[in-house]
Amino acid sequence: MLKVGIFGVGHLGKFHLNNWKEIRDVEVVGFYDPNDAAAQEVSEKYQIPRFLDPNRLMEIVDAVDIVAPTNYHHQLCINAIRKGKHVFVEKPLANTMDEARELVKLAKESNIKFQVGHVERFNPAFIATQNLDIKPMFIEVHRLAEFNPRGTEVSVILDLMIHDIDIILSLVKSEVKAISASGVAVMTDTPDIANVRIEFNNGCVANLTSSRISMKKMRKMRLFQKDAYIGIDFLAKRTEVIKLKTDQDTEVLSFDVETTHGKKTIAVVNPPVPEINAIKKELEAFVHAITTNSPTVVSEVDGFRAMEVAHLILQKIKNNTIVG
Ligand SMILES: NC(=O)c1ccc[n+]([C@@H]2O[C@H](COP(=O)([O-])OP(=O)(O)OC[C@H]3O[C@@H](n4cnc5c(N)ncnc54)[C@H](O)[C@@H]3O)[C@@H](O)[C@H]2O)c1
Repeated sequence: MLKVGIFGVGHLGKFHLNNWKEIRDVEVVGFYDPNDAAAQEVSEKYQIPRFLDPNRLMEIVDAVDIVAPTNYHHQLCINAIRKGKHVFVEKPLANTMDEARELVKLAKESNIKFQVGHVERFNPAFIATQNLDIKPMFIEVHRLAEFNPRGTEVSVILDLMIHDIDIILSLVKSEVKAISASGVAVMTDTPDIANVRIEFNNGCVANLTSSRISMKKMRKMRLFQKDAYIGIDFLAKRTEVIKLKTDQDTEVLSFDVETTHGKKTIAVVNPPVPEINAIKKELEAFVHAITTNSPTVVSEVDGFRAMEVAHLILQKIKNNTIVG
């Protein structure tokens, strides 16, 4: 039985609790949250002991699940790593690049498993693309949300866009060459809406728009590559591939188009989207990495790289200049 302690039982922490209950061979032995109201609600509903001293809880667990506000991630992670405990920490990995750098160093020097909560990697619509040969040259992303004060202690880049940054960095096997960005703080002190262009050394260009002040929600990524268009709808959990029809594409919707090179047949394919719960899947993946001593799906280095790009974007927004 893997003993897990949860640090932070607010909005997302409660979702984690619900999912931990469903995962085999795991026991949530306690939680720590300084907020009495949140703690009382959880103690009553889940019958899980509350710890008033975070260090005592850390000592009796095998793994920690850190779902506290981002400015506490660094210290909680350091305490856990120093005690030799496996770490699952919500995104973003940390508040500052210095903090993130230190966590990467400490995790590397230790023998523990470290996973960052970039949950979109486990979104069924993204999982549905896993057997496709993805080599995008142009990526268009829209992640739009209605305004919610929760999460606004950080900019829309670190709150929402970082999900797409992580997905893009996992797909584009090339280094970032240049970033240009523009963002506006409408409702809070930090950018609430932003548009960003990331150019990679291999020629790929990603154009990202994120907003937390929209009237309707959208979470769409469109990937364009030499032979195909791949659409991923993270919200509706749908995936669509439009490409030139091959002999393997039997029983798919198709249509002919006249081109300057003659007639081409276009196929519309909907890869099967698994019926999975992304949070449960990411926590199960963390447990699997621990029990099989295999790498985590979203490592501390992945969390660091996403933060690095996010911070470059924030710097560009501040300067509002194009740097190549
Ligand atoms: N992966 C995602 O899609 C996603 C979505 C939402 C939030 N998050 C991340 O999850 C984290 C928590 O977000 P939330 O929306 O649940 O926030 P929240 O404010 O609802 O909950 C945070 C909880 O942590 C508690 N807390 C404060 N200091 C603490 C400490 N030192 N140790 C332990 N607990 C502490 C608070 O009392 C509160 O109950 C943030 O880092 C956020 O970025 C990720």
